[in-house]
Amino acid sequence: MNSRALSNKQILITGATNGIGLAAAEALAALGANLAIVGRSQTRTRIASARIRAAAGRGATVATFIADLSSQASVRRLAADVLARYPKLDVLVNNAGAMYGTRQLTKDGIELTWAVNHLAPFLLSMLLLHRLEESAPARIITTASQAHQEAHIPFNDLNAERSYRGFGRYGETKLANILFTTELARRLDGTGVTANCFHPGLVATGFNRNNGLLMHLGMTMLRPMSRSPEKGAETLVWLATSPDVANVSGGYFFDQEQRPPSPEAQDAEAARRLWEISDWQCAGSARSAEARS
Ligand SMILES: NC(=O)c1ccc[n+]([C@@H]2O[C@H](COP(=O)([O-])OP(=O)(O)OC[C@H]3O[C@@H](n4cnc5c(N)ncnc54)[C@H](OP(=O)(O)O)[C@@H]3O)[C@@H](O)[C@H]2O)c1
Repeated sequence: MNSRALSNKQILITGATNGIGLAAAEALAALGANLAIVGRSQTRTRIASARIRAAAGRGATVATFIADLSSQASVRRLAADVLARYPKLDVLVNNAGAMYGTRQLTKDGIELTWAVNHLAPFLLSMLLLHRLEESAPARIITTASQAHQEAHIPFNDLNAERSYRGFGRYGETKLANILFTTELARRLDGTGVTANCFHPGLVATGFNRNNGLLMHLGMTMLRPMSRSPEKGAETLVWLATSPDVANVSGGYFFDQEQRPPSPEAQDAEAARRLWEISDWQCAGSARSAEARS
């Protein structure tokens, strides 16, 4: 593809200040796309935006939005700003994610990993869905992980009150990413909007560098086995751009190939149940937003 291949395509990507999201944004900008990147820190977002601009092809633009995805009010403000600015949105990439070694609650009273990794993509996609449908053909891509393999959705302990293990919790949210994608694809059938997710591989990024010295050391030891952010971003970029997947929806991909996720991730009933619960978990912040307006 040449440096104008994606001109006129508007792409919104979260978690583009570092790692896989930043590498993907650079690659998409190099193909001429108009990028809107989301970051929670003004400084990191400004630095990332400069890097993406430096990589950009002819005609590409880079806009920045500041949002803390752990807060539903912040996700709602982000969606409102995006809707006000863009009459057309071709691709939404839900990429931001993290793991937390200790259990923490957000302002909304939601366990933090669940809020950032699952509810933020769910809510942002819901709030932008109509615009994506109006812009069809359009694509929604979510960064999932192989870490979903051993996970189950703890429907009787969704806020992880009874038990919390950082990596186990992370796996649950990555399973939620896949179930969300399947149910979203089912609901979007016939609209011209596709929903897919992928595993980027083990990638040398800032991931799990927020959990103390031991974890930091562990991630450094994994570096020789890890791929570069650019390699980790390849499947994301392909899902966002390739004609090969223009009509594919509801898939889980690794290295540009559709793969079967775990049996738990193929449970359509769990996907529907998770959807209803996620909707309910976001309803409180909708009422607060209405009360404020
Ligand atoms: N690295 C891997 O081996 C691997 C493997 C499988 C899946 N993944 C997935 O890949 C995705 C990207 O992770 P990465 O490996 O590139 O890690 P990373 O380098 O730590 O990047 C994570 C990105 O998410 C953003 N983010 C985190 N919490 C946020 C919040 N509350 N609000 C807004 N933005 C927030 C970070 O912003 P800040 O700059 O502000 O921190 C950063 O831009 C994640 O969904 C992760 O689960 C990674």
